[in-house]
Amino acid sequence: MKQARSVESLSESDARAELEWLAKELLKANLDYHAEDSPQLSDADYDKLKARNSAIEARFPNLKRADSPSDMVGAAPSGRFGKVTHAQRMMSLGNAFDASDVTEFDDRVRKYLGVRAGSALPYTAEPKIDGLSLSLRYENGALVQAATRGDGTVGENVTANARTIRSIPQKLTGAPEVLEVRGEVYMTHADFEALNQRQEEAGAKTFANPRNAAAGSLRQLDAQITRTRPLAFFAYAWGEVSAPLAETQMGAVERLASLGFDINPLTRVCADVDALLEQYAEIEQQRARLGYDIDGVVYKVNDLDLQRRLGYRSTTPRWAIAHKFPAELAWTRLEDIEINVGRTGALSPVARLLPVTVGGVVVSNATLHNEDYIAGRASDGGEIRGGKDIRVGDWVQVYRAGDVIPKVADVDLSKRPEGAAPYRFPETCPECGSDAIREEGDAVRRCTGGLICPAQAVEKLKHFVSRGAFDIEGLGAKQVEMFYADDQLPVRTPADIFTLEARDAANLTKLANREGWGETSARNLFAAIDERRRVPLARLLFGLGIRHVGEVAAADLARHFGSWSALTQAVDAAAPAAARHLRADEAEAAERRAAAEEGRRARIKPAREAAWEGCDAAARAAWEDLIGIDGIGAVVAAALVTGFGQSAERASIDRLVEQLTIEDAAAPDTSGSPVAGKTVVFTGTLEKMTRAEAKARAEALGAKVSGSVSAKTDILIAGPGAGSKATRAAELGVETMDEDAWLALIGGA
Ligand code: IVH
Repeated sequence: MKQARSVESLSESDARAELEWLAKELLKANLDYHAEDSPQLSDADYDKLKARNSAIEARFPNLKRADSPSDMVGAAPSGRFGKVTHAQRMMSLGNAFDASDVTEFDDRVRKYLGVRAGSALPYTAEPKIDGLSLSLRYENGALVQAATRGDGTVGENVTANARTIRSIPQKLTGAPEVLEVRGEVYMTHADFEALNQRQEEAGAKTFANPRNAAAGSLRQLDAQITRTRPLAFFAYAWGEVSAPLAETQMGAVERLASLGFDINPLTRVCADVDALLEQYAEIEQQRARLGYDIDGVVYKVNDLDLQRRLGYRSTTPRWAIAHKFPAELAWTRLEDIEINVGRTGALSPVARLLPVTVGGVVVSNATLHNEDYIAGRASDGGEIRGGKDIRVGDWVQVYRAGDVIPKVADVDLSKRPEGAAPYRFPETCPECGSDAIREEGDAVRRCTGGLICPAQAVEKLKHFVSRGAFDIEGLGAKQVEMFYADDQLPVRTPADIFTLEARDAANLTKLANREGWGETSARNLFAAIDERRRVPLARLLFGLGIRHVGEVAAADLARHFGSWSALTQAVDAAAPAAARHLRADEAEAAERRAAAEEGRRARIKPAREAAWEGCDAAARAAWEDLIGIDGIGAVVAAALVTGFGQSAERASIDRLVEQLTIEDAAAPDTSGSPVAGKTVVFTGTLEKMTRAEAKARAEALGAKVSGSVSAKTDILIAGPGAGSKATRAAELGVETMDEDAWLALIGGA
């Protein structure tokens, strides 16, 4: 960003030149934002330019241009949209791709609730609208706020724009005092075509598909433009409500209809999985005639009391799932195969394609997954695509499903050009030249360069500053690349970010004097970095970019361990056992093979136990604790051990941690909970709820649920059939109670 000198020190001719530059930059930013719906400037940078422009105009009023950005229509003076923190998070949905995924979903729900197969458990089924979600807040019947989903926690305030949408009522009669209605903003095919035609005639940019058009239209700074855009809204969910809407999902949606909202006419109650699949087929059949885009069918547990019991995983409800339609396809030529090196060193082949439209979107890159995929081999040694390999020059089928990265699905051998050679997957890293190796059982070839590999280091840094991680304003992918390559002020590891200001102060050439930087932008960057020195445990963990530790696993780990020291101690303690676990897996596989050959039953337990012989007992216990955490299995646990165990990586993490104040994971609000902080163990048969539900509820009340009784156990909840754990508890004098007493204690039936 080019702003260096204070406004007071500008000469008249400098001011004129800068105003000209600002007018150009801001016009371009506005066009990118309005016409393209693809902003290139961050909101903060945009605001900074506008403020600079106003300051110069205030000092030199005679220099104000006829096309001054201050007078631009639609540019709100206070920046883009205000931010809105949702009273209740806006969740996303898990996906199902076939009937067996749907059956598994139903099984999971039943298991969680303890509802037997065969007992009634109705669901609703409704189209999944391909638009963008919106939350509308009504207070005493008046629409007071409309917000986009954003990251689920904080969205954009688009109230003025939402008021221009005809199917959104401004006033409700007979609604609860507080009511947040949630649903999807979308555009019909007819309206989309007409809009694009108008845009074309006006020489303005056209939209790629109705979803983009809806998003671009809703996120207009000038509500008058939104008013001219034909947007519609279907209500299908709600957030905060001061009084329940109904007892069932269907009842609640019908209540929304009676309040004046459009609800989707294809919403049905279905008695079981078969009925869900029938409704799916019905909706799929009607899809082409609906006149608007849908990308699947959403199933929701109908009984709202059961929805409440099922609750949420980190970002998705346990009580709903999206059954997606199969993807769209197109054929095109594979021009080249390039290799990307990711933050975990994975070499990912990317197809460069002759651009082709797939389901309304132009695709020029697609994933080729890994070397086996290119060769036509499946991970289990079998064939994919009937064993056909993929070669540069081939005619290939591209597959795209919703937001998922497009992939190359098939190849047409009859069109293979003469002389096309089989693709040779590189065995060294194209970025650093280190060996790229495949470990036993891993489909992916990885660069062994670790932090010396610039591609890995840069990708790790980009991940570190990304939205779900440290989210440092003004430090995006572009700046990370710049600082990584900078010899005077290098940022090569995350810790370097936090020493940037101190190092800059000691440098002769200041960041502020660099091309593209100025006093303000440098100061703002340092301030933004400082703001992130305090970091919640889950964000830190996610930011480290350890393999398999995504946002969900990071949140699970943070919730479980609460603090950085508890987490690292646990992982370090478990480390010596991780290799044993792998050995036990190998021993199990070997035993299975031997048993199959000899035609006998496999004796798995003894085979596994033999591999554990001689393992330190404390390490094994720590390992078992780690893999026993809800949502964490052996794969994540092993990745943590590896991530914290390599000395160079660990040193880099330690240096980072020195720079930070890590906020312990906020325990759930357990004020008043009689079991907060207590360690409890469930044993025997539970009759009122399943183990999973018992565990989730206990944890929600701030208790730690453990699998084994020890001196640290506070309460043992023993159902019928309790065995050795009850005996052990008695020996240790641990308080023991039955399920009813437990329920009475936590105050719920
Ligand atoms: S229910 C807590 N129902 O799909 C569950 N979502 O992939 C809230 N969507 O963010 C969502 N049609 O934007 C629900 N009939 C429908 C939907 C729907 C479209 C969108 C919604 C959500 C996304 C999740």
